[in-house]
Amino acid sequence: MKRLQSYGAPGITVTFDPSVCIHSAVCLRTLPAVFDVRQRRWVRPEAATVDQVAAAVDLCPSGALRYTRETPAVPVEGAEEPQPGATIELSRNGPLLLQGTFRVLDEDGVVIPTAGRAALCRCGGTGNQPFCDGTHKAVGFHSRRDPVG
Ligand code: SF4
Ligand code: FES
Repeated sequence: MKRLQSYGAPGITVTFDPSVCIHSAVCLRTLPAVFDVRQRRWVRPEAATVDQVAAAVDLCPSGALRYTRETPAVPVEGAEEPQPGATIELSRNGPLLLQGTFRVLDEDGVVIPTAGRAALCRCGGTGNQPFCDGTHKAVGFHSRRDPVG
């Protein structure tokens, strides 16, 4: 398990768990001023507003990125309430993306913490079962196979 990284700025702290990052680059595309792997300190929350950083982190499909606000966000009138239940999306040539209210249990029935988002490996190659660690690209996993026969 790789070490959890933490990046603080006034109003918000972003954490990054490299062991479950699926290398989708959503964060890099969404907010390049904050997420830039060319920089040694690759997450710089101070480079955008707290709301912008929070919104970008919310798009991380694996849950590798998370944040804690110093003060809770004020609910926006008319904003959509999170729906109960969970969505499972089969990403193309990649993991199962879970989002919503769900629990992941190990073989002994012990809950594995996920907090609303997770990317589960379906190529079989991950080094961090049951989570995707990006290995599907290295092993050339294709989710669509030609029918046999
Ligand atoms: S999984 Fe999350 S942290 Fe990893 S590259 Fe994608 S958006 Fe960024
Ligand atoms: S699906 Fe990503 S490592 Fe298996």
